[in-house]
Amino acid sequence: MLMVSGACDPDASPRRQFDATVAADDAGAPATDGSSDGGDDGGSTGEGDSPAPTPAEPLSSEQVQFYLTRIAPTLVGRSLDYDEMQLVAQVGEAAIAPIVDGWTAEPGFAEAMRFLVSDMLHTSGERDGVDFDLPGNLAAEIAAENLPYSTLLTADYCVAADGKHIACDTGAPYESGVLATRAYLIANKGRFNLTRAKRMLETFACRIYPMEAEVQVPLAKARLIPMFQAENPDEQTVDEAKGGFGNGVACYNCHSQFGAHAQFFVRFDDQGLWRADATGRQDPDGELGRAVAGLYASHLQAPRAAASESSQMFGVEADNLRGAMDVLTASALFQQCTVKNLLARTFGLAAGVSDDFDADLIAELAQRITVDSDDPTLRHYVWSIFTDRRVVDAVVATMEAP
Ligand code: HEC
Repeated sequence: MLMVSGACDPDASPRRQFDATVAADDAGAPATDGSSDGGDDGGSTGEGDSPAPTPAEPLSSEQVQFYLTRIAPTLVGRSLDYDEMQLVAQVGEAAIAPIVDGWTAEPGFAEAMRFLVSDMLHTSGERDGVDFDLPGNLAAEIAAENLPYSTLLTADYCVAADGKHIACDTGAPYESGVLATRAYLIANKGRFNLTRAKRMLETFACRIYPMEAEVQVPLAKARLIPMFQAENPDEQTVDEAKGGFGNGVACYNCHSQFGAHAQFFVRFDDQGLWRADATGRQDPDGELGRAVAGLYASHLQAPRAAASESSQMFGVEADNLRGAMDVLTASALFQQCTVKNLLARTFGLAAGVSDDFDADLIAELAQRITVDSDDPTLRHYVWSIFTDRRVVDAVVATMEAP
């Protein structure tokens, strides 16, 4: 069981500490009262003259051990060993970097990343002859071989249980990492391919619909099928969809962005198999959102566009899912979302669009990580995040006072 103890207790949750820490940085003053005597409190706190940040107090060995003990199970699947405890006792805070670095070279790290990815994508095991472990196998390889994390979405191969590179199983003329696997496509199938699109965006860009129009440029209204053009009930031409306005939000708001991403899945049927003959056209006798023969309907009106798997990702035209993943993985949203996923997993918090973490902290960590490499490895992400003093402090702040 990888749940971090205390995660369900709001007072022990690092959430408030993540927020408080950053707020304190911004204000140039600690948010806590009392405990920090010895600091200089002579300066006025008038706005504008924020004092230079005071260097962080060194951490005690107990604090370092508390921190590492908390993060080890999720990152490396074990607790601290004797040598690590010795190192912490000897050098305190300076032990964090080499210990975290050592973890990322262990088999336990690859297994932890396998678990993370399988869980995020709702894929694992084997049923009906489909190998639901393919996404997890790729994640484990990326961690073990120190490959760029973007490979998760762009690999042009799959990884078998024995570690061999194999063709993926959709029959598509391209591969696209974990997404172009029957495991992902079956586990997330649904009408109009909405669930596939939604899980992709929420997991790898931490966005849901609607999102900022500058991130995902909406498709022009006239390109959509009438049901998704509607911006109010009077415009809704489809009876089944008239009731959907209860919350007062226009179908077009969300589905003009959704439709662009769903289009990348239009040729994958409900068995996750790629079909050259897909049309994207609504099956006249079928449920809303379904095309004939186990395929799903497109959001697009024009027959050629509806049948095509080329679409637009974050404003950039892409030929297919694989091309879309080049765009997504180059985006700062992908990097920030990776930071968020790793933090969320480790502390038992929610990732996706949750605001469990301060957005500035996430953005700042992601930016620092990509200064060193524009296509970082998981090891690089993990090392940078979990040696960051703000992350350490947030956890240490949950320690019981002696
Ligand atoms: C706030 C964003 C938003 C708005 C507004 C919105 N939708 Fe959706 N729609 C979604 C999401 C999210 C899903 C679910 C995708 C999933 O997880 O399968 C969805 C799913 C659907 C589905 C598929 C249902 C299914 O069971 O698979 C249809 C059909 C649909 N929407 C039609 C509409 C219509 C018609 C309107 C306007 C009346 C509308 N939506 C407004 C976001 C939105």
